[in-house]
Amino acid sequence: MTSPVPSSLGLTPVEVAAVLEAAAMAPSVHNSQPWRFRVLADRIELHADPARRLPATDPDDKELRLACGAALANLRIALEALGIRPMVTLLPRDCGPDALAVVRRGGHTTPNTQLTELRRAIPVRHTNRKPFQDKPVPATRLGHLVRAAQTERSWLHPITDRVERSRLRSLVVRAHQLQLANARFRAELEQWSGHPGDRTDGVPTRSAGPAPEAQDEWVLRDYSGGQARHRVPGKDFEGEPLLLVICSYYEGKFAELHAGQAMQRVLLTATTHGLSASFITQPIEVPACREELRRLLGAGITAQTILRLGYGSPVASTPRRPVADLLIDTVPALPGGPQ
Ligand SMILES: Cc1cc2nc3c(=O)[nH]c(=O)nc-3n(C[C@H](O)[C@H](O)[C@H](O)COP(=O)(O)O)c2cc1C
Repeated sequence: MTSPVPSSLGLTPVEVAAVLEAAAMAPSVHNSQPWRFRVLADRIELHADPARRLPATDPDDKELRLACGAALANLRIALEALGIRPMVTLLPRDCGPDALAVVRRGGHTTPNTQLTELRRAIPVRHTNRKPFQDKPVPATRLGHLVRAAQTERSWLHPITDRVERSRLRSLVVRAHQLQLANARFRAELEQWSGHPGDRTDGVPTRSAGPAPEAQDEWVLRDYSGGQARHRVPGKDFEGEPLLLVICSYYEGKFAELHAGQAMQRVLLTATTHGLSASFITQPIEVPACREELRRLLGAGITAQTILRLGYGSPVASTPRRPVADLLIDTVPALPGGPQ
């Protein structure tokens, strides 16, 4: 059987398939996997998949672009691990309306230890919604995460101030309640979560984490469709989770693509240090709360996503679509032509 994946950038079809598989291991809202790839001899294009938009949760596609930025980070890391220096153009004008990035061969590179570790972390990283240990993340580790975001032209803001923390918590509760009051949001969550694991997308019940409880300090979304088990006494969430806000210095599509790459480099760096992460993105998704979050953080930075980090126990992986389903036709789009 011939591979559906063509060769590209001097790589064999098998190598290209492995690179795309790595890209598709990126996180995405509700595991919607909103990306597609066009593979040509001289380039790999990353496109948004409009059929996988989440209009109630992410009306402006901001989180879609964060997820695609994360897929791009994985793609770049996987190429570098194969000795290719990726030359990336964001938002290329001549590849069609949904094109978010095009990656060309920018020469040869020899992967260093850090890059090799990041590549190994790609299949190991999973969103972990379970309680973490009550063990602080050392400052040196936090320093590595801050630098990981800076490498991707973004800013990492740890929430350490007590007042800031308590105001953020109120914002999360408010955004969560506003979302749950919205029937379209609930329908979207129901459509994408709480399934038994028989699909190649969405969040299966096994990855949903424990059922939310009234005493939880940070309200988490219930991805189990109400089927998650209640925790036994003593299995509460950690008292002081490390909360990190991935921010950009400006707004717009470029910023979101940079922030998505930063988010992924932070998550992978955390994975190499044995840390687990989950997301608390309700205030980012509700416009009124997003505005309040901007005022809370101040200093002209734009919050793009919020992560909770800590030392967790192992969790199952979420499914992914096969690489063949991610490919779009290999006939290059003509500028201004039909897509
Ligand atoms: C931008 C973004 C926002 C997310 N928001 C949430 C969230 O609010 N709550 C949550 O539990 N998971 C959230 N997730 C995690 C996704 O549900 C998760 O990435 C997806 O199910 C795939 O699973 P994996 O990360 O284990 O590969 C978010 C992911 C992304 C990329």
